[in-house]
Amino acid sequence: MKKIILTGDRPTGKLHIGHYVGSLRRRVELQNSGLYDKIFVFEADAQALTDNIENPEKVRQNVIEVALDYLAAGLDPTKSTLFIQSQIPELCELSFYFMDLVSVSRLQRNPTVKTEIQMRGFSGESIPVGFFTYPISQAADITMFKATTVPVGEDQEPMLEQCREIVRRFNNIYGETLVEPNILLPENAACLRLPGTDGKAKMSKSLGNCIYLSDSADEVNKKVKTMYTDPLHLQVSDPGHLEGNTVFTYLDAFATDEQVARLTTDYATLQEMKDHYTRGGLGDVKCKKLLMAVLQETLEPIRQRRAEYEKDIPAVYEILRKGCEVARAAACETMDQVRRAMKINYFDDRALIEEQSRRFQK
Ligand code: TRP
Repeated sequence: MKKIILTGDRPTGKLHIGHYVGSLRRRVELQNSGLYDKIFVFEADAQALTDNIENPEKVRQNVIEVALDYLAAGLDPTKSTLFIQSQIPELCELSFYFMDLVSVSRLQRNPTVKTEIQMRGFSGESIPVGFFTYPISQAADITMFKATTVPVGEDQEPMLEQCREIVRRFNNIYGETLVEPNILLPENAACLRLPGTDGKAKMSKSLGNCIYLSDSADEVNKKVKTMYTDPLHLQVSDPGHLEGNTVFTYLDAFATDEQVARLTTDYATLQEMKDHYTRGGLGDVKCKKLLMAVLQETLEPIRQRRAEYEKDIPAVYEILRKGCEVARAAACETMDQVRRAMKINYFDDRALIEEQSRRFQK
């Protein structure tokens, strides 16, 4: 069986370093590993509309921002197919059939949908149907491309579970057709969900606690300077705490021991630095200096690539258009198989036509 990766993001804002450690960095590694037969990365603009209907223009504007972030982070259009969800009408078709395989109560039990309903302040009857059913359309996104591997954050686990259920149900009813995908979670615990610079649970645009991939070096340094650390660590000599200390969470997510050894004078590994911090005698400023240096090393090449692509925006749209063409061809192939499995390919089904004609001639 072919090994196929598929993943995507809602284009509702520029991507930040939480996206980078949570998914983007991994995607680039997977792309360059040569272990996969195909890689699809897409912008879920239609899914973004399910909870941004008051601001469709935001989604439209961010399609190019996210494309630039993808390319800047190192996704290579000659290796990965980059496309836009709304340009693949077959996804609606497959979702339509999937809707018969999922109950309302099953959707209501999806933990991600539950939390999001609360977060959005939707209540009861006011939940848009498209929003409520987006796990179904997401299952179509995944299965349409026969994805075997879906690299996403832990918050997407319920979506993958629901997708696998749909695949099993479909294959049970219509015969082995679709592929059950596996989730691929980030391996570093600090990457599961990078907190905001204020120490709050999650980076989010509305909280203003993000470091964006497109931030300038100055902006990044400014944000690190005001970052949340350990409120009990008042004097340098006080013992510091690592738990909930955002600077160390970020160092866990970004810094290699090689970098720690090269960019500090006193430590060979991050662990040595942590030990000093917990013992007392290491100030926050020094830790932040290291974090700044580490972040700049990661972000500088990304900024440079972004600047290059920004010079020719029509070419970026052209990359997406070509990606959509490739994705659409794959989608058409899967839909042919789905229609055949469902036996709704009436006009290609010689046996059906002959059988029906015998039935009526006798
Ligand atoms: N729900 C995902 C998110 O919010 C985006 C997404 C849509 C996705 N369809 C997908 C991710 C299919 C992986 C596979 O980030």
